[in-house]
Amino acid sequence: MDTNYNVLLIGGGGREHAIAWKLSQSPNLGTLYIAPGNPGTAEAGLNIKLNTDDFAAVSEFCQDHSIDLVVVGPEAPLVNGIVDYLEKEGFAVFGPKKSAAMLEGSKQFAKEFMVKYDVPTADYAVFSSDEFDDALKFVQSKESYPIVLKADGLAAGKGVFICDSEEEVIKRLDQLKNDSKLQDAASKLVVEEFMEGEEASAFVIADGHTSHILNNAQDHKRIGEGDTGLNTGGMGAYSPAPLLTEEMLDRVKYEIIERTITGMQLEESAYHGILYVGLMITNDGPKVVEYNCRFGDPECQAILPPLENDLLTLMIATTEQRLDEISLQMDSDFRCCVVLASDGYPGSYSKGKIITGLESVDEDSLVFQAGTAKDGDNLVTSGGRVLSVVGKGPTLKKAIDHAYKNVQKLSFEGCYYRKDIGYKGLDRIK
Ligand code: AMP
Ligand code: GLY
Repeated sequence: MDTNYNVLLIGGGGREHAIAWKLSQSPNLGTLYIAPGNPGTAEAGLNIKLNTDDFAAVSEFCQDHSIDLVVVGPEAPLVNGIVDYLEKEGFAVFGPKKSAAMLEGSKQFAKEFMVKYDVPTADYAVFSSDEFDDALKFVQSKESYPIVLKADGLAAGKGVFICDSEEEVIKRLDQLKNDSKLQDAASKLVVEEFMEGEEASAFVIADGHTSHILNNAQDHKRIGEGDTGLNTGGMGAYSPAPLLTEEMLDRVKYEIIERTITGMQLEESAYHGILYVGLMITNDGPKVVEYNCRFGDPECQAILPPLENDLLTLMIATTEQRLDEISLQMDSDFRCCVVLASDGYPGSYSKGKIITGLESVDEDSLVFQAGTAKDGDNLVTSGGRVLSVVGKGPTLKKAIDHAYKNVQKLSFEGCYYRKDIGYKGLDRIK
């Protein structure tokens, strides 16, 4: 591989800090630019101001800075077609095209695709926004609670409601119809059967032909211990998940991933980049809860550190459809990632609190930054999810202990974190 690849990474969360950190270890990296990045990514490359919603401006930046590879962290630019635009302009991009990112961009598309290609998932029905009365009649005819309501489009994790009663369905239908933040995403509504089971995620890297499971993880989406309270972007993750035994991973591979990758080829929307498959492990086997067209956050912070391959080489090979030449190597340690959040998140929270202790964490632990900013010489909070602390160890218990030992060394006013990240994995090992 040629050396000195210039890379533009789009995004500014903990996920992007982890990607930047891993890319910066590559001997083949030229300059790494991150738009917008955060104070953590500034340690791995150059943060830049660039309106990444303006694809022409991104293309101009790539031209002016001889960018060899663009890596897209979050879903919105992918669903909006950044890969199509930049590839037409001659740039290599790691990520799916718009038509493939529809697996995340439209739940209706994903469900119809799964039915067509026999990918196991929950039964469902779709209603447009002027058919919400029919949706209610459909729910009433089922008389089976809980039932799941999902806005079709991207809703920043806020478009899914698990309803325990008819009253709640009525309330949520009203919210989906009238909440200005949800209306666009809810121009279509997916009503879905509730799946009983435990969730886990498989992260697949695909080049349109070849796909490998990169790693797997379990997220902790709720704000409170014991998986209680409001949904968040994710309060912590651990990897690998004991729930995904070798036998279960084989089923995931043959019943879900191969059918998905082949199906997308047949749809002429071959999948490139990271496919995050959200799974429910039910008594009937693995089923798909959702597809995402990118790395998860905070799962990325737990699944990239064990990767022994050079991430840049892997990403370039993906864009050149040479994944078949690569065998993935992971170290054998577990990782546990604990998110430190601002008190109040996922609701409102205050900002500008001084963060201390970063210099005292163990050398073999990692701290990835998300909602942080520089205020003079101080590092201060600037978002809901502030830091991700990653511990490792030869057992899940040791990885959890290592993460929490280092969490203790960090502080800022109003710091909140869950104390039970990873414990559901331990319960399974016992
Ligand atoms: P989604 O954005 O589709 O992943 O939904 C968000 C969360 O809602 C998931 O991580 C699950 O915890 C839950 N969920 C979504 N769909 C279902 C379902 N059909 N059955 C049970 N839980 C679900
Ligand atoms: N942690 C969940 C997500 O990234 O969608």
